[in-house]
Amino acid sequence: MNAPLALAGPAPRPLEGMIVTQGLRAGYGDGPDILHGIDLAVASGEIVTILGPNGCGKSTLLKTIGGFVVPRAGQVLIDARDTTSVPAHLRVREHHVGFVPQTDNVFATLSVAENILLGARFLVASQRRERLAQIMKAYPSLAAKKDRRASALSGGERQLLSIARALIADPAVLLLDEPSAGLSPLMMDEVFDEIVCIRDRTGMTILMVEQNAAQALAISDRAYVLALGRVAIEQRASELLNNPELAGLYLGAH
Ligand SMILES: Nc1ncnc2c1ncn2[C@@H]1O[C@H](COP(=O)(O)OP(=O)(O)OP(=O)(O)O)[C@@H](O)[C@H]1O
Ligand SMILES: [Mg+2]
Repeated sequence: MNAPLALAGPAPRPLEGMIVTQGLRAGYGDGPDILHGIDLAVASGEIVTILGPNGCGKSTLLKTIGGFVVPRAGQVLIDARDTTSVPAHLRVREHHVGFVPQTDNVFATLSVAENILLGARFLVASQRRERLAQIMKAYPSLAAKKDRRASALSGGERQLLSIARALIADPAVLLLDEPSAGLSPLMMDEVFDEIVCIRDRTGMTILMVEQNAAQALAISDRAYVLALGRVAIEQRASELLNNPELAGLYLGAH
């Protein structure tokens, strides 16, 4: 008698890592699926970049990992714990996930210090003060302007501010959506350098979405390229730049 089909091949090996998504399907409202089953894994201390054309689902993927979009199917695991149905604020607090969104990432009418403290609302007052002091020490350019309104900051300083707001919660995992968007080449270098510093200083696991492929890949260990809500390429960052498929995906899909 033939063996049942389900037993014919080896079972797929579960992915391992600090951030894992398995078969992630997501969309908005009653609209179509934007993510069509994403399998991704980021090891502890890795920097991994997500690339892909506009509208292919990069931010949706990051928001689903951060808990801002509830998946229709599949799983999100943070440090081997299933967080699929954990709301975003509890992912920060209990699963140590920091999220820096693509847009609207600072409150212009609040001061620099107030913006940073928004990331630490769940801490007791003494911890909040201590963490704020640490952040101010790490970011002298923000410390110098701590009582100024965020509207008075440059684009690069705002980007640092929104990263600092995520860091005050002392995350183990940092999700960054286009940290270099809209920055001059010099500021872009500073933000990318800072991302490497954060990882080297803390061992944090960093998953970022980027459009500036060459610079993002230069500081990344690995990358995923999405096309139409699917993983089209997963590769070591150093090899991806020479992969002819990369240009094809940018020019072709969507
Ligand atoms: N809040 C939303 N409600 C409905 N549809 C949305 C929403 N946000 C994104 N979409 C749709 O989901 C698709 C993927 O969007 P997403 O923002 O994930 O793309 P992206 O790859 O991050 O693009 P970009 O490079 O332009 O930032 C797009 O078709 C977009 O219109
Ligand atoms: Mg986006």
